[in-house]
Amino acid sequence: MKFIDQMDINGQKLLVRVDYNVPLKEGVIQDAHRIRASLATLNYALERGAALIICSHLGRPTTRHEPEFSLLPTAVRLAELLGRKVKMAPDCVGSEVTGMVQALKPGQVLMLENLRYHAGEKRNDHEFSKQLGALADIYVNDAFAVAHRAHASVVGVVEYAPASCGGFLLKKEWEYLGQVLTDPQHPYVVISGGAKMSTKIDVLNALLDKTDDIIIGGAMANTFLLARGYQVGQSLVEKLRVRDAVELLEKASGKGKKIHLPVDLTFGQGIHSLTALGVCRSDVIPQDSMVLDIGPETITQFKTVLAKAKTVLWNGPMGAFENPAFARGSRELAQIVAGLDDVLTIVGGGDTNVVIKSENLSDQFSFISTGGGSFMAFMEGKELPAFKALKESAKR
Ligand code: 3PG
Repeated sequence: MKFIDQMDINGQKLLVRVDYNVPLKEGVIQDAHRIRASLATLNYALERGAALIICSHLGRPTTRHEPEFSLLPTAVRLAELLGRKVKMAPDCVGSEVTGMVQALKPGQVLMLENLRYHAGEKRNDHEFSKQLGALADIYVNDAFAVAHRAHASVVGVVEYAPASCGGFLLKKEWEYLGQVLTDPQHPYVVISGGAKMSTKIDVLNALLDKTDDIIIGGAMANTFLLARGYQVGQSLVEKLRVRDAVELLEKASGKGKKIHLPVDLTFGQGIHSLTALGVCRSDVIPQDSMVLDIGPETITQFKTVLAKAKTVLWNGPMGAFENPAFARGSRELAQIVAGLDDVLTIVGGGDTNVVIKSENLSDQFSFISTGGGSFMAFMEGKELPAFKALKESAKR
């Protein structure tokens, strides 16, 4: 696979695929991590006299007439971060866009409108890919967060662009996550949390052979507690996944791997309750309440497991962290992982990142991935379409 530092980009027009699928509330960007993460590639290219045509998707629009999915707010933020003008195109293909691209001078930046306004993007349509590929001299993929989608701007475009390569963000994700996937230092501890076990079970199965310990928290732990035969009151569970949880627990014990479940839990009336009702042991959860965070004894036990780690991979919060009444487990865990010395600490997934950011700990982690679904697919050991396409293009 080739990366941007192996290409002669001076004076070239680059079509840079970024992932600016950022959370927006009434047009205001809630978290610009993905935009900041693209700056290394963009600044590098601008310093070398390239002109940039930036493309991305935002959300999942179904028609072109959904202005709430416009990339304009991201163009405005990007201009602030780059400290230069970013022109906004009315579309991502077509004669007007081609004209704007032709007029682009070295050092100038043009942002194309949402790729998903065209059905051809998700279909990986040849004609649409060809139109994208024709825009530039070099296609640069710096969108790890969408690397698991075989879409036109990720895969098809590589067939048609005169040359293709990865950007620095893609390279960083590939290197950090690749190291954890193929050659982690032991002891290797995986922390898995969040609401749904169904989105995590495949990756946990895939990681079982590689890790030494798996820590489980968040609502997904409830399904494991059910699998252990405990009652979980009114807590969120995935009953159809209890069998999967039983199998994972059995497989782990057969392989001598440890799965650590919460030993105590903080419970409340519901996710929006202003205060917690109390803390209980995991085997005596009150019938009329809902588990919403891990308890203090669990935090202490998880800390002991983490204290011996050389590699930590964390995906998913420990409870309903958006509500301060149930954020303690996630926040304390963030402090514990951030405080580990000489340990490779990798974080994946937006929610975990929100917890870390709210604690101002981002700088104390080795790497925070921009990927959600792509992070999970990568850690499952799947070959992501973006990497496959770039590897094939490097052979040509
Ligand atoms: C993400 O946020 O995970 C990526 O941007 C991919 O978005 P998608 O799930 O809508 O394809």
